[in-house]
This record gives sequence, structure tokens and C-alpha cells, in this order.
Amino acid sequence: MHNDKIIILDFGSQTTQLIARRIREQKVYSEIHPYTLPLEQLKAMQPSGIILSGGPASVYDEDAPISDAGLFELGVPVLGICYGAQLMMQQLGGRVEKADNREFGKASLTVNYTAGLFAGLEPAPAQHQVWMSHGDRVEEAAPGFTATAGSEHSPFAALRHEEKSFVAVQFHPEVAHTLIGTDVLRNFIFGLCGCEASWTMHSFIESTVAGIRESVGRDQVLCALSGGVDSTVVAAMVHKAIGSQLTCIHVNNGLMRINESESVLRFFREKTDLKVIDIDAEKYFLDRLDGIADPEEKRKRIGYGFIEIFEEEANKIGDVKYLAQGTLYPDVIESVVFRGKAPIKSHHNVGGLPERMQLKLIEPLRELFKDEVRELGLELGLPEEAIFRQPFPGPGLGIRIMGAVDKERLQIVRQADVIVLEEMKKSGWYRKVWQSFAVLLPIQTVGVMGDGRTYEHVIAIRSVDSRDAMTADWSQLPYEILGRISTRIINEVRGVNRVVYDISSKPPSTIEWE
Ligand code: XMP
Repeated sequence: MHNDKIIILDFGSQTTQLIARRIREQKVYSEIHPYTLPLEQLKAMQPSGIILSGGPASVYDEDAPISDAGLFELGVPVLGICYGAQLMMQQLGGRVEKADNREFGKASLTVNYTAGLFAGLEPAPAQHQVWMSHGDRVEEAAPGFTATAGSEHSPFAALRHEEKSFVAVQFHPEVAHTLIGTDVLRNFIFGLCGCEASWTMHSFIESTVAGIRESVGRDQVLCALSGGVDSTVVAAMVHKAIGSQLTCIHVNNGLMRINESESVLRFFREKTDLKVIDIDAEKYFLDRLDGIADPEEKRKRIGYGFIEIFEEEANKIGDVKYLAQGTLYPDVIESVVFRGKAPIKSHHNVGGLPERMQLKLIEPLRELFKDEVRELGLELGLPEEAIFRQPFPGPGLGIRIMGAVDKERLQIVRQADVIVLEEMKKSGWYRKVWQSFAVLLPIQTVGVMGDGRTYEHVIAIRSVDSRDAMTADWSQLPYEILGRISTRIINEVRGVNRVVYDISSKPPSTIEWE
């Protein structure tokens, strides 16, 4: 179905998926595979081009991740990025060493060959802003290669093979800080690989629906439906594929916002023809969380709780082999353990799954980012009210109460949360930001109300701008809105005498506090 296809081999960089996304933005299909993909399989995919991603390793490490060098014999254009560039040089006979000056962040690139990857760009002395992140560098080009660009600390910031379509860049063209990134990727996919811009969300739906149909056959599928954008889109897509073989299940885990389960169920019953079972599991979850203060432990208990309920329901329906989930790429990347590094968080729909789970997973959004999912939802004909909801994490308010969760704390954070949402919606800011919410802190502070001293809870307001949740900035909300939110919370929420605004970006913070 996809004629032109770029295959990305992943060496573990946090920005690998951005490469795929940037290519899809150019309407060319792209898939990511681990660097261990066997050569025969790679060949069978008939790629129009291959990209070797960046990664945290050094090519000269004993256990460095190395792909089959036979890929250079396939007659297909190859682009190496950062680690991928160094690996290409190493495998084809060049030399890579630890650099005296590591380059992290913005750097200036000068281009001395304005064809190929750099077609259309201004040559030296023009300077182009790029983003670098490397400790090693190419010291000697492999035979047949010449430098096409340099930076202050990388004489071989880019290279090309003089006869074959092999190119390499030390910088990361996929990140927004590389201002010439799109030009470079376009030059690779259209110029060197000869792709056509013909891939669309519509074709993604068609091929995904066909794939789901084929793998599910006559079995039944259960879909975990929270009512958020991701699970709603997954349910719509799976429903399109297998119709009545799909049963959706909405679990009220007691960690939802005010009236959330009711309005989600109303939406699905009134606006869609999905079969939805609802389960009230408030007591079950609150009992499991009783006295548990550690964030990872809370996430795991919530995740395991969901799975137990799903399995129980699956047994009641019978013949259920699959669980469909709205896992997105950022959930995957932040939950994976790459070479011994700790995962950032166990997102319940990825890291928290018990290994013994009986149900197989269907995760059709696993390669996508939220804005792509929204585009997909609109293409599937879902209403805007469902598509433009702000993200809400699977573990719900459980991770917005710092420390142990109980009914009283839930009540406080719920009331504060609804005030934040009301004020954001009223002022027109709800859709301008990625997410805005209240967090209940595990401390009390002194205040004065009327004539008396108070010693009460603190609410932190978090509002962030982001494109894909991989990075985020705190939103520069007008003071009037912050003021209104603060006054209303202190006046209306019993037990709170202080409100603070979180002004940290991600990284080094994360969006949620736990
Ligand atoms: P962090 O806090 O990791 O969050 O910067 C990134 C984005 O993911 C959401 N989030 C989750 N979503 N299950 C989810 O479905 C989870 O366990 C989870 N934890 C965080 C978070 O709200 C933000 O949009």
C-alpha cells in the first residue's frame, strides 16, 4: 500500500521517533525498527531509503549496537545521524574517536557543498543553526567520502560518498532547533531517495484497519476506554476494523475528575455506536492505594489493577484474545529501558503491564504523537469535543496527589482541578496550552483567614505548552487568570490556604509531578 517507505534503524536516541514524524509530515511513510533488524527482513521491506538514528553509545565500545553492514550493499540511499553517522564511518573504514570538545546544544554549521543533502542552502560563509549532542566525532572519513559541512568542533559535521547515495550528519536534523532540519530531510527523502509525497492519515487508517482485521480474525477484542483522545481514537479505529467484535470497557478507578465517568459514558452512548461496559472500581483502587506514597509504586498498583479488571471482564465475554490500548510514542520511549538506564516513569499502559498478562496488545497509535492522533481522530469523523480534550494520565488524580491517596485529598484536588479547567475554558486558554491542572502538595503551610491562624494544604497549578510531551515549557498565562484561579481555589476549596504556580520546563522537570 505504501510504495515509498523510509526505514529508520533505531540505536536508542530519544529523538528517533521525531525523525519518523518529520518524514511523515512530508507525506512519506516511515517506520522505525530496532538496529538488530535482520538484513533479509530489511531487504524484503524494499525501503526507498534507510536512516541510521542517533544513540547514546560509542561505536568503539565493546558492546556497541551495530547493524548489519550488508545494508550498504542493498543499493539503497543511507543517511546516518549522529551515532548513525559515526557507525557508517566506522563500518565503511573511517575513524571515530572521543572528541576533546563535546558539543551539546546549538552549534553553527557552514556548508561547503550545496547539492545533495544541502541542496538549496546558502554556502559558507553563511552560518546555519543546528543542534548537536555528541561526545565522539569522526576523525577520518571512510574511503570515498568527503566533508560537506563543518562546525567549530566537528570538521566532519556532514559527509557524502562521492559515488553512492550515502550521507551522514553529526547534527540532528529532526529537532526543531536545527533550523535547516526540514530542508535536510526533504533533500534526503525527495532528492536522494526519489520518494513521492503521497502518504496521508487516510492511508494510515486504511493500512492500520486492514492490519487489525488480519491479526484479529474472528476473535473478540476488549478496548480500555478512558474517554481521553488516545483511547477514543483507538476504539473508533478498531471498531472500524472489526465492528461488533469489539467491546469497550470504561473503568471508574475513583481517580477521575468531577463527573468525568458520567460524562464520558454519556458521550459514548449518545454519540457513537460502540458497545461500552462500565465498571465502578473506586473502592477496589482506593484500597490498593491505601497508605502508598511512592510514585512508582502507585503507578504500578494502578496499572496492575486495570489489568486485573480487564482480564476478569475478558473472561466473562469469552474468546477475548486482545486488549486495544491508546499507547503513544512518548509513552513508549519514556518507559523503555535502553541498556540499563532507568525508565523515566512507568506509564501504566506500557511499563506497568504484568508480564503474565493473558491478553495480547493491539496498540495502533504506538508510533504516533498526540497531534498526529488528533489529526487521525478528525479524519475518522470524531467530534472536536472528544479530540481537543487536554491529555489526562491513565493513573489520573492518583499522581496529582503527592504522597498517599485518600478520599479527603481526592476531594481537594478534584475541586481545585475543576476550577482550573473552568477558568482556562472561560478565558479561551484551554486549547492554547497542552495541559493545565492542579496538584496537591504533601505539605501544609501557615495562613490567616478572618482573624484566625490556619495551617492548611498547598495547591500547585501546572500549565505547560508542548507539541508532543517530550519537551514542554511552562505556559505564560496572564496574571489575571492565575489570580482568578488562586482566589477561587482559596475561597472555594476547604482545606487550602495557598496556591503556587509551577514555572519549570521539561526537561529537567516532567509535566506531571509524579
Ligand atoms: P510526563 O509527566 O512524563 O508526562 O512529562 C508526559 C505526558 O504523558 C502524560 N502521562 C501519562 N499518560 N499514562 C498516560 O496515559 C500515564 O501513566 C502517564 N503519565 C504521564 C502526562 O499527562 C503528559 O501529557
